[in-house]
Amino acid sequence: MALRHFLSLLDLNSDELNALIQRAIELKAMQQRGEIYEPMKNRVLGMIFEKSSTRTRVSFEAGMAQFGGHAIFLSPRDTQLGRGEPIEDTAKVLSRMVDIIMIRTFEQEKLETFAAHSQVPVINALTDSYHPCQLLADVQAFVEHRGPIQGKTVAWIGDGNNMCHSYINAALQFDFQLRIACPEGYEPDSAIMARAGDRITLLHDAKAAAEGADLITTDVWASMGQEEEQATRERAFAAFEVDDSIMACANADAVFLHCLPAHRGEEVSASVIDGPQSIVWDQAENRLHAQKALMEFLLSPES
Ligand code: CP
Ligand code: NVA
Repeated sequence: MALRHFLSLLDLNSDELNALIQRAIELKAMQQRGEIYEPMKNRVLGMIFEKSSTRTRVSFEAGMAQFGGHAIFLSPRDTQLGRGEPIEDTAKVLSRMVDIIMIRTFEQEKLETFAAHSQVPVINALTDSYHPCQLLADVQAFVEHRGPIQGKTVAWIGDGNNMCHSYINAALQFDFQLRIACPEGYEPDSAIMARAGDRITLLHDAKAAAEGADLITTDVWASMGQEEEQATRERAFAAFEVDDSIMACANADAVFLHCLPAHRGEEVSASVIDGPQSIVWDQAENRLHAQKALMEFLLSPES
């Protein structure tokens, strides 16, 4: 069995990703029926968090417990990682002890170095560059509420950040059109955009991006690690708050997504995130089901 990692959405092909979304929907139904499904008895997930988390930690930990396995939370504060042990050495040691590892860290390169020295599958649980697990949950939520996302129009309004980069990869892999509206100077990485070709359009006008869209999404203006830029960013992003006037430009049945945590009155108005088009709670719940499907895939003998 070949070792597979999930460092970005590009590590799985389109068929595998679509099958994973269907499996997540199936696992959700099983969970809701109260069906016990424990394919990971005696399996252990290592979870390295170098940044804060609520959803990612709880969804991975709960998912592994529901699968009959166990999860270990590791932070630099109380491991040798925080005292300078090389990432390569940590990868070699941990991957001799656990069956699968997820990492939330800063540089994508650090995650890639870890994966290169790991004997077991490694999952990107957010880096400065990408947040692919979140996209699985987002696509699942859209599919559940509106059917296939293929051929739809998605508007990303806000920072050209890790979530935006994963939406760009998703446009390529799930075959939808992505319109990105961000302030000048806050564009996504040009190499990541170039790879997506004509699947994406870059704009600097939120309403133009939202026009006729089937899905509107946004994220915080200052990501983890950018806290000191908060005030500057608030000024730069002032015209990019997703409010009712922006939602009114989208299709009447458009849905609103936000990976959370959200800041009402900044990137999204309370009326939108708490309004009838918002499916953010289903989206958040789907982290659990989508990541269970992902772990099952990465640990299956056929993958
Ligand atoms: N959306 C998301 O990844 O949330 P957490 O930072 O709480 O894990
Ligand atoms: N862009 C945000 C996403 C949080 C889930 C961050 O990196 O902080």
